[in-house]
Amino acid sequence: MSEKIAEQYKVKTEPFYRPVSNEVELYQAAYARRMPVMLKGPTGCGKSRFVEYMAWKLGRPLITVACNEDMTASDLVGRFLLDKDGTKWQDGPLTTAARIGAICYLDEVVEARQDTTVVIHPLTDHRRSLPLDKKGELVEAHKDFQLVISYNPGYQSLMKDLKQSTKQRFGAMNFDYPDAVLEAEIVAKEAGVDADIAKKLVQIAHRARNLKGHGLDEGISTRLLVYAGQMIAEGVEPLAACQMTLVTPLTDDPDMRETLEAAVHTFFVS
Ligand SMILES: Nc1ncnc2c1ncn2[C@@H]1O[C@H](COP(=O)(O)OP(=O)(O)OP(=O)(O)O)[C@@H](O)[C@H]1O
Ligand SMILES: [Mg+2]
Repeated sequence: MSEKIAEQYKVKTEPFYRPVSNEVELYQAAYARRMPVMLKGPTGCGKSRFVEYMAWKLGRPLITVACNEDMTASDLVGRFLLDKDGTKWQDGPLTTAARIGAICYLDEVVEARQDTTVVIHPLTDHRRSLPLDKKGELVEAHKDFQLVISYNPGYQSLMKDLKQSTKQRFGAMNFDYPDAVLEAEIVAKEAGVDADIAKKLVQIAHRARNLKGHGLDEGISTRLLVYAGQMIAEGVEPLAACQMTLVTPLTDDPDMRETLEAAVHTFFVS
């Protein structure tokens, strides 16, 4: 049974991931000891892609959970459901991952309330177990189970941070947008555009990233550059493609838009 579930969560084909530094080796070593790992970095810089790649490389199933503030511990752990025969327990994604030996990726974990976050504590220390209080069961994690969380250090207010007792259960890795040459390579490959266009898109992003904290909350992500490249590869005229993917999603402020449009015009002329 758990074999069948594991199969369903396997990453079947190799995801394209271009290592930026020694992150693959570091992750492998952490996984060898089943150390919980925290990935920190801005939106669209490759955190999720990296986890998919590592799950593929290690041959482990991957269960991803997008966290949000309405999420309860039951959403992670499981709950009793009513059906025609009465009540039936249904495992949540964290419980499933612990049972089948998956890598469980909790995306944007700070979004969850602290009383939700603490359910991961017994799984992330020597106990490696998950108590299902409502069901009266203690799940011992499968030997291959590992927990990974992601977190964007930019957005948090003081209210929204992880407790030290949660943070200090993880080894942490910093992610950021790759350097210009590498990022252009990624954009060219992912979007299917030539090196020259990819390079220009990256140059636009560098201008926008300098505006972070000066009118922009966040710079243009690698993800958006890939979008821009994809639109261009579809035959959309570069200015329109950039407007849709690099300007309009980022800001509603008219001055900021103008600044971004000017950056686009520097590299693509109509
Ligand atoms: N090192 C990389 N190798 C290959 N592709 C990459 C890399 N970095 C970024 N990308 C590209 O950027 C896109 C966005 O990356 P990803 O979805 O992993 O971001 P993320 O860091 O998880 O963002 P978020 O915090 O918003 O979830 C990917 O779909 C991929 O196209
Ligand atoms: Mg992600």
